[in-house]
Parts: sequence; structure tokens; C-alpha cells
Amino acid sequence: MDDQNQGHKSHKTSSLNSILILIVVLSLFSLSLAGYYLNRTNNFILTTDFDIDKFKAFIIKYDKSYKTTDDYIARFKIFKENLLKIQNHNDMKKSWSFGITKFADLTQEEFINNHIPANYIVATQSYVAKFEGKTEIKSIDWEKNGAVTSIVKDQEGCIGSWAISVAEATSAYYFINHGSLIEASSQELIDCSGDYNNNGCSGGYAVNAFKYVKENGLSSAENYPFVGIDQECKANEQKLIMANAIYQNSVQSNNVSELIQAVSQQPVLALVDSKSWQFYKSGIITDDCGANLNHVVIITGFDTTQEKPYWIIKNSWGYDWGENGFGKIGISEGSGICGINMDPSFPVML
Ligand SMILES: *[C@@H]1O[C@H](CO)[C@@H](O)[C@H](O)[C@H]1NC(C)=O
Repeated sequence: MDDQNQGHKSHKTSSLNSILILIVVLSLFSLSLAGYYLNRTNNFILTTDFDIDKFKAFIIKYDKSYKTTDDYIARFKIFKENLLKIQNHNDMKKSWSFGITKFADLTQEEFINNHIPANYIVATQSYVAKFEGKTEIKSIDWEKNGAVTSIVKDQEGCIGSWAISVAEATSAYYFINHGSLIEASSQELIDCSGDYNNNGCSGGYAVNAFKYVKENGLSSAENYPFVGIDQECKANEQKLIMANAIYQNSVQSNNVSELIQAVSQQPVLALVDSKSWQFYKSGIITDDCGANLNHVVIITGFDTTQEKPYWIIKNSWGYDWGENGFGKIGISEGSGICGINMDPSFPVML
């Protein structure tokens, strides 16, 4: 029995040994393969870091490419720092969450420099809408009502949110008055409103874009499609919105009640401070936001029946930002979260 047992044992041990040897050989072999592969793609030193998998997934998802090894390593370092920021934010269990957006390989400074102009100079607006006496509704969602499409533009390197938002608010206004949703051309505003003190993909002003529409009309996006880069103006006589048809009204600055009235009537443009939106994924933004207006969105609805009342905004940073390109900002008095109450405006027919 003992012998048998020992024999069995030693047999077991030797087969265990050979399995171990096989494992060692196999792992040496795969290591050399891995080494070869990793040397070729020049990121060998990164393989011990578990975050690399997230980084690789990020690169694939957002189709990123880095020219040099140094660039790859530098971007991974920033990505890791951003993962920490995202984690720290989410650990605080606030009413909105962060996630890995396409901006996750940028420092905050780069994000700001690449995507938003330093500071918006708020153009003085001549007319202030009066809503006094109108009853306030409790909630509305213009996307659900068909006045705003779920198609989200991605401005990428083009600082064109002013043009995109003016075109979208104009399309929505057109829908409310004509019953059909025809996308107005933001590209025409980018290419053609230079004489109105706009500067294409280097930035512009909603108020000036509205002046352009008033004097020149605006094509449909079908006739003048969005490309998101500066082009020669190709405007022709074929316009969706006729000249002299649209004008811009302003909501009284820092007046929530007026803003609610205005959004009840139609989607409204709002200047906002978007500096803290780099990793926004979902939920209601309620603080951590400045009021240096640097970006334009449209407010496509609101809900005051919830515990935390909020505005629904539509952004122009693609579908992968926020909730399929949309976001929620808490409703509060004064200048509002991210300055959203400061300078709202909307198009009207003259
Ligand atoms: C907001 O505007 C309305 C007029 O539409 C006015 O009656 C009200 O006093 C204003 N509220 C604030 C806080 O300025």
C-alpha cells in the first residue's frame, strides 16, 4: 500500500513537474512573443500596469492614434490621472457621474484650449422678452415633442457651438411654427457670417449669427451640410428660412422664471461655462461649475417636478459625451449652474 502510494505520489509529482515545466516554457515563449509585439508597438514598459487595458479600450473606442512612443506614454500618464479624477468624483456620489469620455487623454488645460474659447464676450442684446402673467408649466421635453432631433453634432476641433446652437434653435422654432422639422445649416453660419464679426471654426457669437439669418436667410442642412471645418462661403439663393424672417429675443439675465417661460415656448440658446464638462457622463450637474461663459448649447427642456429640478441641454460634442449627447443641469436662481441663466436667447419671427 505504502509503495503503491509512494509510486502514485512520485508519478503525480513528476507529472506535476512536467506541467510546471510546460507552463514555464509556454510562458517564456509567449513572453518572447509578447516582448516582440510590445517592442514593435513600443509600449513594453506599460504592460505591468492594469490601467493599460482601459487605455487600450479607450484607444479602440475613440479611434485614437499616437504618432510616437513618447506620445503614447505621455497620453497614458494623463489618462491615468484622469481615471483618478473620474474615480474621485464618482466616489463623492454627487447627482451626476463622470466617465471615460473621448477627452480622457487630455489634460484639463488641453481640453479647454482645444474645445472652448478662453472667454466668451457676451454681446449686449437689445430686446428683452416679457413673459409676465403667463402660467408656468412644470416640465417639457422638446426632443420628445419632435422639435429637436436626437442627432447630435460633433464639433471636434471646430469652435462652432454658436453656429450649431443657432441653427438648432432656428430649426426648432421653424418646427413649432410650420410643423415639420427641417435641419437648418450651421455650416452656412460658420462659412458665411464673417462680415457679422464671426470667425468660423475659431469662434463666433450667437447674436451675430442671428443678425446674419435676419439679413440673409438660412439654407437647410441638406442643401448646405455640416462639415465642421472652415470653407469658402457657398451660400446661394435657395433658403429654408427667408431673409428678414428670424430675429433674436433675449430672456432677462438671471431670471429663472423667464427662462422657464421661454423654454416652455421653444428651445432656447444658452451660453454656459463648459470647462468642468470634460468627463460628464450622466445625471444632474449641480455645482463645480464656473460662470465664465465660453460655450453655447440649447436648452431643450426642463423638469421642475423632480427632487432636483433640472434643465435638459443639447450639446455639440457628439453622442459619446453625456447622455447620448444631451445633459442635465440643475435649476437654480441667480446666474445659475454653469452660468446657464446669464445670457439665454431664442429666435422669433419678425
Ligand atoms: C423676472 O422677470 C419677471 C418679468 O417677466 C419679473 O416680474 C420678475 O420680477 C423677474 N425676477 C427677477 C428675479 O428678476
